[in-house]
Amino acid sequence: MLPIIIAPDPRLKRKAEPVAKVDAATRRLMDDMLETMHAANGVGLAAPQVGVLKRVIVVDTARKDEKPLRLRMANPEIVWASEEFELRDEGCLSFPEQFAEVRRPAKVRVRYLDHENEIRELEAEGLLSVCVQHEMDHLDGVLLVDRVSALKRNMILRRLAKAKRLAETESAPA
Ligand code: NI
Repeated sequence: MLPIIIAPDPRLKRKAEPVAKVDAATRRLMDDMLETMHAANGVGLAAPQVGVLKRVIVVDTARKDEKPLRLRMANPEIVWASEEFELRDEGCLSFPEQFAEVRRPAKVRVRYLDHENEIRELEAEGLLSVCVQHEMDHLDGVLLVDRVSALKRNMILRRLAKAKRLAETESAPA
């Protein structure tokens, strides 16, 4: 299991480097990220969130009664996006318990290298589309709070700071 970096943290704001080849080490990273994400009840996770500045994301939006998707993507690129947009509530494992509405293209086609270093394309809509776009943002240091109004951003950052302070007080020795 990998530790997830909680915002605000400068490591979440950096741009990740492309992967030259999906080798055994990258595959291991992808699998560890999937485990970490599932344990945290998330639907997506990007490598910078676990402190690795590589263009790697994992996504699994399958419901409990569906077959797991276990999407492992390196160097994802949007090759097509729909003209219609959709407004949806998004969360992020680096912003625990915070949600905000974000507007994004409703459908996208993404090209990527899978866990076996094969070039693949995925056409996504609904939650899967949102999730892939959200995780891809992380690779460029773009966060949920960068996609919302200044008012909403300040509100989320204030709540996170408060939660961090509270956690520190609780873990401090009496
Ligand atoms: Ni996120």
